[in-house]
Amino acid sequence: MRTDVNILGIETSCDETAAAVVRNGTEVLSNVVSSQIELHQKYGGVVPEIASRAHIEKIYPIIDQAIRQSKLNSGDIDAVAVANQPGLTVALIIGITAAKTLALVWEKPLIAINHIHAHLQSAMMDTKDLQHRQVSCGLPAVALVVSGGHTSLYDCENTLELKLLGSTIDDAAGEAFDKVASILNLPYPGGPSIEKAAKNGNPDAINFPRTMLAKDSLDFSFSGLKTAVLYHCCGKDMKGENRVGKMGQKEIADIAASFQAAVVDVLVRKTQMAAGRIGARTILLGGGVAANTVLRNELEKMAQQTGRKMLVAPRKYCTDNAVMIASLAYYKYKAGLFADMTLEAKAACDD
Ligand code: KG4
Ligand code: ZN
Repeated sequence: MRTDVNILGIETSCDETAAAVVRNGTEVLSNVVSSQIELHQKYGGVVPEIASRAHIEKIYPIIDQAIRQSKLNSGDIDAVAVANQPGLTVALIIGITAAKTLALVWEKPLIAINHIHAHLQSAMMDTKDLQHRQVSCGLPAVALVVSGGHTSLYDCENTLELKLLGSTIDDAAGEAFDKVASILNLPYPGGPSIEKAAKNGNPDAINFPRTMLAKDSLDFSFSGLKTAVLYHCCGKDMKGENRVGKMGQKEIADIAASFQAAVVDVLVRKTQMAAGRIGARTILLGGGVAANTVLRNELEKMAQQTGRKMLVAPRKYCTDNAVMIASLAYYKYKAGLFADMTLEAKAACDD
């Protein structure tokens, strides 16, 4: 009798249509991602209506490609997993409808996945410690998820048990990267553009604010930093013209590097505070912004200096993908946590 568990994962929460087949939570049999970046680029951000139309066009070809690449037949798939929250509801609905249809036709269980928890799963994919609560594992762990829509710190008990410690009260870190890139006339998505521009800049050139909120707060706020960049470029009264068009590359690079340094500084300091509070032995990092080299290096440095283990998502699984969905679904499958046909899309997290 076959003991392996093959799960088809589906992800459509924002502007990537993705499907993947993962065996036993860690063995990636296929990974297909169709990005809509080109469709949204001219608007400087994701347009929900355009995203949902593109998901409708792409979803079945992408799933078909994922199944073919995995070299399995539909009969070998043990469950269908889908991100149902948080995200753009008009986008999530497309993935959910496809997943429900396949689960019904194939007579397989349906598994609902929280997209943010799945981002953290990307950081745990290579370690069985946290997943299986072994004695050698580095628990407790503090987990930082930094994406375009979320900036959250969790107390992580294991793959399925996460307690929210703090989150952003306004812009997410990725959103701040995207908006500042737009101020600086750098292309969307802003994270990679700012990181590239920042390579030639001086992170100490401008002392942008580090918003820490109340003394013990583990929440984040990035809107003040974004406004500080705007004031820096347009003048405080906002009456002056945006000087960016007249700036040389070095000046843009200095702004990008100083902004990036401010974001990373806050993320690292808050993560250290959270780690201290729960006595964390491990630090986990996931989400689109986790692809940022300065953030990865600075968090790693802090982990080393404070005697903690650091687990970070491989770059290819930082931004949205379905491998993380199918991987986390394995642990829900093992725990018998299934959804039914009433599954709905939710814009915000309910756990
Ligand atoms: O996780 P993700 O793909 O989508 C959401 O769930 O939101 O994250 C996308 C975000 C975007 O805001 C993008 O600018 C940011 O991740 N990002 C980065 C980098 N690569 C992507 N931010 C900073 N540095 C990067 N290298
Ligand atoms: Zn995401």
